[in-house]
Amino acid sequence: MSLKHEIDKNRLPKHVAVIMDGNGRWAKKQGFKRVFGHKKGVDAVRQTIEAAVEIGIEALTLYAFSTENWNRPKYEIDTLMSLLVSSLKKEIGTFQKNNVKLQTIGNIEKLPKKAQRELDETKEKTKNNSKLTLTLALNYGAREEILNATQNISKKIVNNELKIEEIDEKIINSHLYTFNLPNVDFLIRTSGELRISNFLLWQIAYAELYFTEVLWPDFNKEEFYRAIINYQSRERRFGKTSEQIEKRN
Ligand code: FPP
Repeated sequence: MSLKHEIDKNRLPKHVAVIMDGNGRWAKKQGFKRVFGHKKGVDAVRQTIEAAVEIGIEALTLYAFSTENWNRPKYEIDTLMSLLVSSLKKEIGTFQKNNVKLQTIGNIEKLPKKAQRELDETKEKTKNNSKLTLTLALNYGAREEILNATQNISKKIVNNELKIEEIDEKIINSHLYTFNLPNVDFLIRTSGELRISNFLLWQIAYAELYFTEVLWPDFNKEEFYRAIINYQSRERRFGKTSEQIEKRN
């Protein structure tokens, strides 16, 4: 039986972020080239989106391409970009059927024009969807995001649109790429690596972290449900004592 039935729909994380890792190792293990792992990884992306929709997650953010990924061989970068384009073309129907809104974080102006066009089109077509906000992090780095926010806040100060004393967490949140998303409640990383790798550094301040040995191409709906069940087994205290949390409930 599916693990889905063990999930408490009243205690879901609002925003789940995923570092999809292990595509290359998965492919090597089977004797294939690394890019084959990325191709198989697209199926895991689809399963994760569907699972999130099925249980009612509001926001899902996937780390699809980091600012550091430009250092990979050109052939691998080209494959990732064309997989992005073909997946968007292929999945637009699924997005509409499942009421999924697509958005991106990161500097997508550096992506190939074809990828930018496909992203813009898919964003436009799905902009009124409201069940799940799917955010793809593309050419994304958290330090770059914080730098960008700092520059934009500074510009407002110089232009007298904002006072230094007015800068608070809300102002910072509203200048991040994730301005329209709730804080991350749950961060999943596959493939056994225990790192954050410059992903959503500000937003994960209180997130529960989940690391699994499963390589990304083997990740699927059941693995996603397993992760959510693990999240629900934890007590989130936000700095308070257990007694304070009990009283509130
Ligand atoms: C990490 O595996 C994965 C990536 C760098 C990219 C993730 C991309 C996909 C799953 C496919 C395309 C995405 C979309 C949204 C359609 P790795 O190559 O770092 O694995 P390794 O650590 O084993 O080398």
